[in-house]
Parts: sequence; structure tokens; C-alpha cells
Amino acid sequence: PLPPPFQVPLPLPPVLKPVATSDGTDRYEITQRETTAEILPGVRTPLWTYEGTFPGPTIESRRGRPVTVTHRNTLPVPTVVHLHGGRTPADSDGYPTDLVLPEGWQEPHQQMGHGMQPGHGMRDPRAVVTTLTRSYTFPLDQRPTLLWYHDHRMDFTAPAIWRGLAGLQIVRDDAEDALGLPAGPRELPLMIADRAFAADGGLAYPALDPTLRVRPGVHEPYVAGVLGDVILVNGAPWPVHEVDAARYRLRVLNASNARHYELEAVTDDGRRLDLVQIGADQGLLAAPVTHRLLPVAPAERYDVVVDFSGVPVGGLVRVVNRLGTGRTRDVLAFRVVREAADDSRVPATLSADLPSWRPSDAVRVRDLAFRVGRMGGGHGWLIGGLPFDPARSDLTTGLGDVEVWRLVADVHHPVHLHLAGFRVLSRSGRPPLPHDAGLKDTISLRPAESVEIITRFDGYRGRYLFHCHNAEHEDMGMMANLEIT
Ligand code: C2O
Ligand code: CU
Repeated sequence: PLPPPFQVPLPLPPVLKPVATSDGTDRYEITQRETTAEILPGVRTPLWTYEGTFPGPTIESRRGRPVTVTHRNTLPVPTVVHLHGGRTPADSDGYPTDLVLPEGWQEPHQQMGHGMQPGHGMRDPRAVVTTLTRSYTFPLDQRPTLLWYHDHRMDFTAPAIWRGLAGLQIVRDDAEDALGLPAGPRELPLMIADRAFAADGGLAYPALDPTLRVRPGVHEPYVAGVLGDVILVNGAPWPVHEVDAARYRLRVLNASNARHYELEAVTDDGRRLDLVQIGADQGLLAAPVTHRLLPVAPAERYDVVVDFSGVPVGGLVRVVNRLGTGRTRDVLAFRVVREAADDSRVPATLSADLPSWRPSDAVRVRDLAFRVGRMGGGHGWLIGGLPFDPARSDLTTGLGDVEVWRLVADVHHPVHLHLAGFRVLSRSGRPPLPHDAGLKDTISLRPAESVEIITRFDGYRGRYLFHCHNAEHEDMGMMANLEIT
């Protein structure tokens, strides 16, 4: 029994308390464990969680103050933690074969999954690092923004995120705090993710091997990506949140495996409120950009201010997905419950530290095609005609090099680059779209589009990844290695 929309209160993920804050480092511990939660009213749903909640607990951090997170895995399978959008040394970046093993794990005989080929697995001895617990160190020497941590195990990322392995981490700094943006209870993280439920209340996912132990992949009708018919925000179905008639800062993350959104905020009388974008994946824009309709691809983050002051008390503002149909059109709603003072502001200048690389700075231009293809005995999703192989070096670049990448797509692919933020130069030869502003780490390549991005690989040397963040595409080959030397 699905609840009617806009009845369940919006949960806010708990903020994780550090176990120590000495030596200028915040230390955290997270146990990955199975639990059940009431997502649909009156129904218990088994989940895989960070610290027992979905979303996992939020980690609140300051720019340049390092964080160490020690993960203990009590789940039945190996896991990998990646901090999405983090500027992280390679050994803490969650490479897909750097496993955190559960107690007593016996490596099962690797079978060939859908589209998998022999050797496509955890066999590259150079790549395999395994431990029972693992401490990840995040220097967070980066622009303040909303990051998220999630599972990244080779071939099994999509079902692990689906079962609940995702949480938020927010990086702040004094300059951003001083802007006067809506804050405190008027700043809301919104992790949007669709899920499907089986009759027994469990999450339904079309895995070939529901134990997620041996055989990767999904049943044939789902190779393009798994969609759910229930839209969760912070783990609750179509929630509602009571607000003052004032400005709110909404920190939107699309944590769905494959669903795209085009969000709009609609009042009872059909008026569309401005969505004033102040930040992108990698932090504040130079200046606000106003949208009526905001496309959000998987893994993208948008930092948006919405002003409810023109909405009468008692009014409902529905946030809807224009790409949805039926009940997947609704996302969440805000009920305006009181008039209130508001001294927040959205300054005309938000940040002055955005990189301004020019194409003439680039030492290299690369062409990368994201397309479906044959892989082993079935479908795969390929980059440059190849499926992911941890034993292969795909691209090598020098620390500090500026590069232009020309990305082409067959169908929709949200492409994510680890370590380095980038800027969008063009879409199919035309100027970037309004929501491409700022510094990004995930770009929505639309069907048949070619997109040019520019970046500079700095921070750390080592082996990183880029991949499609349609999580099913990622698991079925659409990932590649990037060595920074
Ligand atoms: Cu959100 Cu490679 O990750
Ligand atoms: Cu893709």
C-alpha cells in the first residue's frame, strides 16, 4: 500500500558525531550493517546501511580540515566507499577493487555475469587491496559543497546503492558562511532516489544474483538502468515539509541509479516559483542563475534557493518531476505554515575563485565515446569501445595538465570524473546550458549530444576513475582508468 503523496514528514538524516577531533583531524567510525526500516507506512523494508539509517548519517566538515572515516563491514559481501566529489588521495578514493571484506568472507568462484568476460572481475593482483575495516582519509582541501559517499564495489555498485549504501557529506567554509544564505532549519539536504518495492516490503531489484556475491548484472530488460515507481526524498516516499514563508536553501542530490528529473516548484494556483541556483556539484557559482525548470541527472547536485514568502500561509508548494508520469511525477512538497522574519540574502556575487581555464591552456584534447556495445556474450556499456578493466591503463595525464575532453553519447549518460572538477565549454557546438554553470563533477550527456569540458588534473597523483553514473551502465562496463603521473 503506497501512501498518498505529501503525507509523510521529510526526514533529515542524522549528523554523525566524531569519535575524536584531535590533531586537527575529525575522526569518524561507520559500521555498514543490515537493518530494516519503515519506509512505506506499516511496512518493514530490509536495507543495507551506513550506521543503521538510509540515507546514512551526514558528515559535517570544514574546508581543509581533514576527516578520517573508519568503515567496518558487517554486510554479507565486500564493499568499497567512495566520497563522490571529494578531492581525495588515490588510496582513499574507493577504487572498485580496494575492498572492505566482511568477517569470514570466502572469495566465491567468479562466474560470468551478464555481459561479463573472463578476467573482468577482481583478479588484477595489482588492483586488489582488501581489509576487514578500512580507514579513508579525506583532506577536503577543496571548495565547499555537498558531497555524497556511496558504495563503489566493482560490478555491484548499483544494487548496493539501491539497498541503501549512500550518505551525505557537507563541506563548509567561513567565506560561504559569511554570505548570509538561508541556514539552520532553512537549509535542507534533499537526497532524491527512486526505489521499487516487492510484495513482501523488500526493495525490488532485478539482479541476476540477488545475493550480490558472484554474478554481476541485471536481467535483460533492465540493462538501460533500473527505475523505481516510488520517489524517496531522504528515504521517505513523496514527503512533505513544513516551512516558514521565507527563503530556503535546498541542497539537491539525485542519488537515483538511473532516473533523471526536471524539477519545478508549483504553487496551488499553478504558479511556478523561481529556483535560484547558487551552486553546482563543486560549490558556489560566480553569480546566481534563475531557473523555472531544473534538470538533475544521476549524481548531480544543485544548490538552490527557493523563496516561499509569496505563498499564502496554508499553501502547498509541490516539487514535481516533469519527466515523470503518474505517481513518479510527484517528488516532495512544502507546506507554508507561518509568516516569519527573513534576514537571509542571495548576494549577486557568490564566489570569485572559480577556475577560468581556457581551451588554449589545454595540453591535450581527447575524444571519448560513451556507447552501447557487445561485451562478452551480451550487452555492455563502453567507453571508447572498451568495457572497464582494472588491469588496463586507459588515459594517462600529468599532474597539473589542463585538458579538453570531447564526450559523445548515444543515449543519456551522466558522466562523472573523480578527483577533478571541470567546466562545461559547449554542447553540440552551442554554448552551455544555464544549469551547466560553475564547477561540476558530473555532466549530463544527452542523447546524441557531444559535450566539451575542460579541467586541470591537480591535487594528487595516482589511479582514478571516470565513468557513467547511471549505476547500471557503470556496473556493465562504462568506467575507465585515469592515471595521473
Ligand atoms: Cu558517485 Cu565513481 O562515483
Ligand atoms: Cu550511461
